[in-house]
Amino acid sequence: MKSITLEKNCIYDGNLILVNGQYPCMKNGAEHTLLPINTDTNRVQLEANVVKLLSSIIDKLNAWEQIRVVSGWRSAQEQQEIYTQSLKENGTAFTQKYVALPGHSEHQTGLAIDLAREQANIDFLCPDFPYVGVCQAFRKNAISYGFIERYPKTKESITGIAHEPWHFRYVGVPHAEIMRKHNFALEEYICFLKNYPYDKKYYIFRIKDMCIEVSYLAAEKTADTSFELDDNIPYSVSGNNIDGYIITEWRKNNGNQ
Ligand code: DAL
Ligand code: ZN
Repeated sequence: MKSITLEKNCIYDGNLILVNGQYPCMKNGAEHTLLPINTDTNRVQLEANVVKLLSSIIDKLNAWEQIRVVSGWRSAQEQQEIYTQSLKENGTAFTQKYVALPGHSEHQTGLAIDLAREQANIDFLCPDFPYVGVCQAFRKNAISYGFIERYPKTKESITGIAHEPWHFRYVGVPHAEIMRKHNFALEEYICFLKNYPYDKKYYIFRIKDMCIEVSYLAAEKTADTSFELDDNIPYSVSGNNIDGYIITEWRKNNGNQ
């Protein structure tokens, strides 16, 4: 066994952080590893791993001519400018539905993207990304790469944001698949995982010959949080941005690595 220690501020980092009207993005610029999504328009930047995976999906679909990455990482200041401008141009009701409060946008994590079907005059706030053709092919592929459609029509009262067919969020594998299986919004998934306390009960998800165990570890309130893990088991840890960690362990189906 080995012991892993997580510093207190680790709960604000990782692929599964929940950022919404209630929970702000706590990451600042220095904590990001941003890369441009492609060499032509390096205005759009995302976390390095997200750039790689998003590019793989668009490569696979041979869709660089048909899909435009409209927005990726935003600083808190940029989100403030977008919010203020939208209030002026679109009014309060529209802005509250489609623009996250400054400090509370997933775009500040570097894990969220807005995509558009390539066309003249793309709308920056509400780009067209229809449920047909290459856009729908993207959606279907995206889940196995770890991306979710973050603001579905049926979850508006839970996410606090209107239906946004264009906004995708990287949460990682197998979490996107689990969320699809249960039809969970990220808010619901983070809450659901509290039923699986680390070292007591695991949510089991099988892919091919892997048995993936997902669990929740509550963070210590006043100290770093430590946990024990079997040696040689591939694993990942993400903060939930609220009060703890999601631990994902990958084992072979026979129980060993
Ligand atoms: N459009 C999404 C909600 C944002 O502004 O982050
Ligand atoms: Zn967005």
